[in-house]
Amino acid sequence: MPSQPTQIESRLALSSLAPETYQSEIRAMTTECDRMGGINLAQGVCDTPVPPLVEAAAMQAIREGQNIYTRCDGIARLREAIAVKQLREHGVRYQPENEVMVASGATAGFHAAAMALLNPGDEVLVFEPFYGYHVHTLKSLRVDPVLVALAEPDWELDVDAMRAAVTPRTRAILLNTPANPTGKVFTQAEIEAVAQLCLEHDLFLITDEIYEYFVYDGARHICPASLPGMRERTIVISGFSKTYSITGWRVGFATADARWMPAMGHFHDLTYVCAPAPFQVACAVGLEELPAGFYTQVAVDHQSKRGRLLAALKDAGMEASAPPGAYYIMAGADRLPGQTAAEKARHLLRATGVAAVAGSAFFRPGRGENLLRYCFAKKDSELDDACARLRKL
Ligand SMILES: Cc1ncc(COP(=O)(O)O)c(C=O)c1O
Repeated sequence: MPSQPTQIESRLALSSLAPETYQSEIRAMTTECDRMGGINLAQGVCDTPVPPLVEAAAMQAIREGQNIYTRCDGIARLREAIAVKQLREHGVRYQPENEVMVASGATAGFHAAAMALLNPGDEVLVFEPFYGYHVHTLKSLRVDPVLVALAEPDWELDVDAMRAAVTPRTRAILLNTPANPTGKVFTQAEIEAVAQLCLEHDLFLITDEIYEYFVYDGARHICPASLPGMRERTIVISGFSKTYSITGWRVGFATADARWMPAMGHFHDLTYVCAPAPFQVACAVGLEELPAGFYTQVAVDHQSKRGRLLAALKDAGMEASAPPGAYYIMAGADRLPGQTAAEKARHLLRATGVAAVAGSAFFRPGRGENLLRYCFAKKDSELDDACARLRKL
């Protein structure tokens, strides 16, 4: 006789994927910072001004009635402008019709790529420290992120560790360059080592290049799709959130071989339908009309912001080295009281009104407890205020 269940479990239960806690440490710090009227260097919101011609183009597009659904992979004009940009800057040719996807942010581009290419139980190598969305998105699709620690203090790639992490379940490597949270820009030699491993084991390479223009001190961003043999297996993801300071507009993109793109478009359609129509037009205008000098100026401006924050952190006794890219500084938190990075961040917020993110948010449990991440993509006046507050610590 079949045994009867002794206790009937309610079907009103969360899925096995739903996390036990929801508020990420970054959001928690933001809420606390707002409550006390502090300065938020925690979230990478990038509140520097939008390029005026991009802003004007968005308003014009709305007024002209470009407010309806677009193709799930974006308007032709923007797909063409992205293809032109990728060829000009990286020497990689993509067909605008079926190898470029406009996405609702790089976040949506990555989600669509993961849905289209990875199966539950697959493993993806992710370099640590990592960007939380990458790891959580993979987990949400029942894909296993396998962390490969970068070597401190400069977060160099440990090629042997990366090679040792490959198993028969490995399907892809995820690379974020320039990287959040470290500001690391992977060097030519490192990217070649990653590419070599992909070729040897027939792996995809998913690259998040959202900070592609944020490079300092002569560092050079290399798009891995430009390496021999890599175009067909590399999914390039980037976007406009950071470059044009439009994090709330939700426009990004992916470029990849025509074998993968239709499936990516399918999943982008299911979740987002399309990126916001008038903002797609505005981003196309940005790509078409902003001169090359705009992008170098983005780097010059942020290099100066980086210098200001770095000096203030040093004066406050927090050890940090200058990141070659992105717009974050990971600084030591030895001199702050607390057992964990979260406690140290809360102490800093209470003492100075400056919010930073606990380094532990970017590592496996037990690591990063002595680091805090500070974002310097802030208006100069706010950044200077934050610096003055830090110096009073
Ligand atoms: C590495 C990385 N990728 C993607 C994003 C988000 O990009 P988007 O606004 O285009 O979704 C961020 C934002 O902080 C990021 O740091």
